[in-house]
This record gives sequence, structure tokens and C-alpha cells, in this order.
Amino acid sequence: MKSIVIYFSRADENYAVGNITKGNTEVIAEYIAQFSGAKLFRCDPVVPYSANYRECCKEAVAKQRSDARPELVSYLDGIEEYDAVYVGGPIYCGEYPQEIYSQLDRLDFVGKTVRPFATHEGSGLARCAEVLKAKCAGATVTDGLAIRGRDVYLDESKNAVREWVERLS
Ligand SMILES: Cc1cc2nc3c(=O)[nH]c(=O)nc-3n(C[C@H](O)[C@H](O)[C@H](O)COP(=O)(O)O)c2cc1C
Repeated sequence: MKSIVIYFSRADENYAVGNITKGNTEVIAEYIAQFSGAKLFRCDPVVPYSANYRECCKEAVAKQRSDARPELVSYLDGIEEYDAVYVGGPIYCGEYPQEIYSQLDRLDFVGKTVRPFATHEGSGLARCAEVLKAKCAGATVTDGLAIRGRDVYLDESKNAVREWVERLS
């Protein structure tokens, strides 16, 4: 099975971890790539979120309320060559950041397997699996994986990723 990880992740100041140079979700995305051989694709907005946590929250809420599709630095043209698509991001107010939808909206998911994952600080996967079922028409959405952002460097988190990837593969 050929696979790709489509994800969003933000460094800078964040809840529970202070200032970080690599986003929590990026750490998990890299574990997935390590265990599955998947390619990595990060959804980076042209206009980055504020480096300040509180400002970032305001920006995220505004984007969600308007159901925005922020412009990305680059896009995947298609996913024809992949069987499985890991989709992940931080939980922002109960959902993925809007940047994920900027990319997903452009892709054809018919016949694909979608594997949701998220990092969070208490919400778990929240509504992400249900949202992906609605947005990725024609895909089979599998069990998801949720890891606490502050715990991404713990061995137990890395092991949880390994077990999840192996179980689904
Ligand atoms: C704007 C914003 C909104 C957030 N909303 C939630 C939330 O609703 N539930 C939750 O559990 N964590 C929430 N968090 C925490 C993040 O999901 C968590 O820190 C995540 O690991 C960040 O991943 P990243 O470093 O890859 O961006 C929020 C963080 C930010 C910055």
C-alpha cells in the first residue's frame, strides 16, 4: 500500500508546551512516515498564524466561523498514486484547522482509505473522523489516533503510533 500523510502543524507558542520549534503534529506525522514509508505533505498557509498563542486562537476561531479555505503555499495536485491517506492536524476548537480543508477540497478520495489522526490537549479526535467521512466522499475512513500534544516525545506515544500504523496496514 502506498501512502501519504497530509497534515497541518504549527510551531511557536502553544498551550501546555510553551515555545516550540517543531509542531506537535509534525512529530507524529514523522513517526507515521517512519513506520509506514508514507510521503509527507504539510499544509502551510501563505499567511501564517500568529506566533502568539492567544492571537492564534482568535485567528483560528475567525477562520472556522467563516468556514475559510486559507490559501496554501503549495498544493498536492492529486493522490492517484496513493492507496492510503493519513490526514492529521491539531485540534482547533473541536476540529482540524481550516488549512486541511483547503487541501482536501481539491482531491478525489473515491476508493481511498483515509486514516485520521490528531494531537490535542483534551479533546481527543473530537469530530475529526465524522468530518472526514463527510468531506472525503467515496473513501473508507478507518479508526483514528489521538495523541496529547505535550506527550509527543514520550516512548508510549511513539509506540502508540507504531501499533496504530501496523494494525491498519
Ligand atoms: C488555536 C488553537 C485551538 C485549540 N483548540 C483545542 C481544542 O479545542 N481542544 C484541544 O484538546 N486542544 C486544543 N488546542 C491544543 C492543540 O490541539 C495542541 O496543542 C496540538 O498538539 C497542537 O499541534 P501543533 O503543534 O501540531 O500545531 C488548541 C490550540 C490552538 C493553538
